Amino acid sequence: MTFDPMMVRPLFPALNQHINQQPILFFDGPGGSQVTQSVLDAMNHYLGHYNSNLGGAFFSSVETSALMATARHAAQTFVNAPSASNMIFGANMTTLTFQLSRAISRDWQKGDEVIVTALDHYSNVSSWQQAAEDKGATVHQVRINKTNCDVDYEHFDALLTPRTKLVAITYASNVTGSLIDMQRIITAAHAVGAKVYVDAVHYAPHRLIDVQALGCDFLVCSAYKFFGPHLGIAYIAPQWVQSLRPYKVEPAPNDGPARFETGTQNFESLAGFIAAVDYLAAYSRTLDTQALSLRQHLRRSFDAYQTYEQTLSRYFINKLHRYNNVQLFGLPHEQHRTPTFAIRINGTQPADVAIALGKQNICVWHGHFYAQGLCEQLNLIDNGGVIRIGCMHYNTFDEIDTLFKALDCDLTLK
Ligand SMILES: Cc1ncc(COP(=O)(O)O)c(C=O)c1O
Repeated sequence: MTFDPMMVRPLFPALNQHINQQPILFFDGPGGSQVTQSVLDAMNHYLGHYNSNLGGAFFSSVETSALMATARHAAQTFVNAPSASNMIFGANMTTLTFQLSRAISRDWQKGDEVIVTALDHYSNVSSWQQAAEDKGATVHQVRINKTNCDVDYEHFDALLTPRTKLVAITYASNVTGSLIDMQRIITAAHAVGAKVYVDAVHYAPHRLIDVQALGCDFLVCSAYKFFGPHLGIAYIAPQWVQSLRPYKVEPAPNDGPARFETGTQNFESLAGFIAAVDYLAAYSRTLDTQALSLRQHLRRSFDAYQTYEQTLSRYFINKLHRYNNVQLFGLPHEQHRTPTFAIRINGTQPADVAIALGKQNICVWHGHFYAQGLCEQLNLIDNGGVIRIGCMHYNTFDEIDTLFKALDCDLTLK
């Protein structure tokens, strides 16, 4: 059985609403996805019954501590970490990265080097530039290969030296959808003794993460990009959980993942996150009655989402090929990419296109999406950036047809 988005669309209240008597087309997924009723119910239930804190002797606190443990376990399963104690939570990916960059850079000194990339969202660039500046370390930025909007691997190889302390790199571009050959990056970085910090924010809704297969040192993602609430999640490899010294308040725990978690956690978001992981696994449960683990269900579900998303990509790109006044930034086929497309239409500004579509309830983003290096290299930064059309597994072929019809009428795509 192949994945059909009509099976899951009824589960998402936002997908079934009308504004001005018109349906809404959500092509804004890379900026934040919609959530299922089960996610809303889980958050509502926690706040309505238990809203509390950790470590108390009474029922609501006991429930909160149990919720925290379940969330860590869900996060462990989601990324295939060796243990739940490798997983930490925070406000979002950016805040977690600034926090972790403080701890990771504590022993850096003048002469040390850090590698970031021009493909990355700047949450994974500025945090390292500022940490390096504080320690007198040098930052190198890997160029992109302008033809396919991938990282320039040869440039990466040339920048990597035994002085490299850290490589910070995205797993997938939030603008062009390009997937990175992470195994290649990690093998090369580890060969010179550098740690690897992976930004999996754009990757997470589209492909199943496996930190043990990757062997990365750190990996971060954000639940609001994969059908959950606003919540940052980080994986820390076992060798760094106790050996790093995070900035923390003195009485807070000194052991385990809690030493990285500043202040009170967003427990309602943790409840929603658990429900989002369950939602992602649920498709596999509809296939048969096999008794599989949560991870195995996630594996089968993601395989189906990936296959479906590739057909969406092919469909979108084939339609795009019919026009000769549209420029696609990124891979012109469905392989090695997510269904996220960065385009420009000759003679129009991305903002104007997004406004025209927005008036018809078609949600697309425009701009540079904090991928400053990429947009600078493509000379798009002072020029309005791109129109980003992002599909999730809940998007349909009909929606793509409607989008192109709107573009045809309003913007005279030719
Ligand atoms: C690839 C990528 N990395 C990092 C971020 C920042 O994530 P957060 O909003 O959780 O800080 C984003 C947000 O759009 C992103 O797309």
